[in-house]
Amino acid sequence: MTMIAPSILSADFARLGEQLAQIERGGAGVVHVDVMDGHFVPNLTVGPVVVKAVRRATKLPIDVHLMIENAERYVDAFVDAGANWVSVHVEALPHLHRTVAHLKGRGVRAGVVLNPSTALGSLDEILPDADYILMMSVNPGFGGQSFIPSSLDKVRRLRKTITERGLKTQIEVDGGVDARNARALVEAGAEILVAGSAVFDGGDPEAGVKKLIEAAG
Ligand code: DX5
Ligand code: ZN
Repeated sequence: MTMIAPSILSADFARLGEQLAQIERGGAGVVHVDVMDGHFVPNLTVGPVVVKAVRRATKLPIDVHLMIENAERYVDAFVDAGANWVSVHVEALPHLHRTVAHLKGRGVRAGVVLNPSTALGSLDEILPDADYILMMSVNPGFGGQSFIPSSLDKVRRLRKTITERGLKTQIEVDGGVDARNARALVEAGAEILVAGSAVFDGGDPEAGVKKLIEAAG
């Protein structure tokens, strides 16, 4: 079954505990936390303190998406705060292999993220080491943006490469995911779907997750 990863970027932070319980009831598989530094992306969000609060409020695994420069300096703080998955951008890390190895050494799942304009070829060397690839289907920085249609073919090509190389790497897709494109993404090879506005904007996060699970098929 496809795993839904609600992004709390679109949640009501004043009612975060309640909304985490709602997505859990809806069947979410993991909680996606978007960390932005105002440098790598033009927005600021949350840090380890919020991950720690999420950790106390839910039993779901926490999937931290780092959109920050110098991520290698901060990964331990997120693992210590309770992250179970941590992903870092290819575009932000010159020594990606070191950070991926470090994350695995700390016992968390290591993800590698690609921006929409970054070629799949940049994954050639790191692919066997990554537990999952987080494919951006919007330019990172904000929730509620429109899905970039060419992402679908990019997911398909990545799935083909993973299969041909006999790897187990999972594909997670992030940005503009909703009930209209979920099925196509799964058919293209996505296994984990991140969704912020599609889950939280309707005011009923439990129903939002259920709707996506059903749409993903
Ligand atoms: C974008 C973030 C996404 C975002 C998804 O920079 O990485 O996780 O919150 O939000 P929606 O689903 O609204 O596009
Ligand atoms: Zn994200």
